[in-house]
Amino acid sequence: MDIKDILQLAKDQINKASSLEEIEKARLEFLGRKGKLTEILRGLAKMSLEQKKKIGGEANLAREDIELLLKNKAKELRAAGAEKIAETEKVDITLPGLASKIGHRHPLQLIKEKYIEIFTSFGYTLFNTPEIETEEFNFDLLNIPQNHPARDMWDTFFVKGNGYVLRTHTSPFQIHCMKKNKPPLRFFAFGRVYRYEQIDAGHSPNFYQCEGLVVDKNITLADLKGTIQEFAKQMFGHDVKSRMRQSFFPFTEPSVEVDVTCAVCGGKGCPVCKGTGWVEIIGAGMVHPNVLRNVGLNPAEWQGFAFGMGVDRICMLKYGIEDIRLLYSNNLKFLEQF
Ligand code: PHE
Repeated sequence: MDIKDILQLAKDQINKASSLEEIEKARLEFLGRKGKLTEILRGLAKMSLEQKKKIGGEANLAREDIELLLKNKAKELRAAGAEKIAETEKVDITLPGLASKIGHRHPLQLIKEKYIEIFTSFGYTLFNTPEIETEEFNFDLLNIPQNHPARDMWDTFFVKGNGYVLRTHTSPFQIHCMKKNKPPLRFFAFGRVYRYEQIDAGHSPNFYQCEGLVVDKNITLADLKGTIQEFAKQMFGHDVKSRMRQSFFPFTEPSVEVDVTCAVCGGKGCPVCKGTGWVEIIGAGMVHPNVLRNVGLNPAEWQGFAFGMGVDRICMLKYGIEDIRLLYSNNLKFLEQF
């Protein structure tokens, strides 16, 4: 095969190459150690000086040609490869971005924050007490006798075998508070409470309460009334009305229940207020003299009032939520509304 034929063959082969591997194969075939052109160059040794000059010159030109062809074809293939990658892996920077999801505060948390805001503005201090209480703190020191129905198995979660209970209300906070601090006192608490109850739209075995306690000299029911009226206005809006009804709690005397005009219907009457226009939200009263004595305070010297309310109920009223279970279901469609 003469140099011209070799060059033609190389041209054809390099043109046909469709990958860098094929280019490399062609390079070896023509310019490699056992390559076609290399063989000719090697054969020069046996040639005459004249032939050496002629054939050597031609062969060197052919090698340069082949090298250039290889280089150009490789460049072309690389560019095509890059284009292909760019096509399949392309990022469209003009597409609109994906908004990252932002969380929402839970409606109970919103009520908690509002509650804290209101009572700190009244000069109260937040006081945290445990969710597991002794029977003594949850009942006895609050003047709840052994035979009181609230102590029944069916209302209270007892912790096995050690006299502890999951607190059934936040009222033990009153005892902790009066034992730890000297009056005058103005404290409030917020937290989870537990009751052994059948779950339905209005009941859950755990829910939240908030509670307040004031102990001072010359405190009367009128102070309680004013405090609650102002709280209701700030929580539900200035046109809300409240009313007190006589009631009973072992740890307050006298005891009252406070109703507010229904925030859902504005007092006209609806299923939430059972058509009455009023909803009961607060249990309250003057701290019972026995409770004061139980923490070493003299009822002739000190008086106080306490009030407790269901946070879930307030939350449901404020936002028009019909089922308490929604508050504990972690349903995003529900939570995203707040
Ligand atoms: N602890 C009572 C309840 O759970 C509410 C209450 C608190 C009543 C403080 C009077 C005083 O129903």
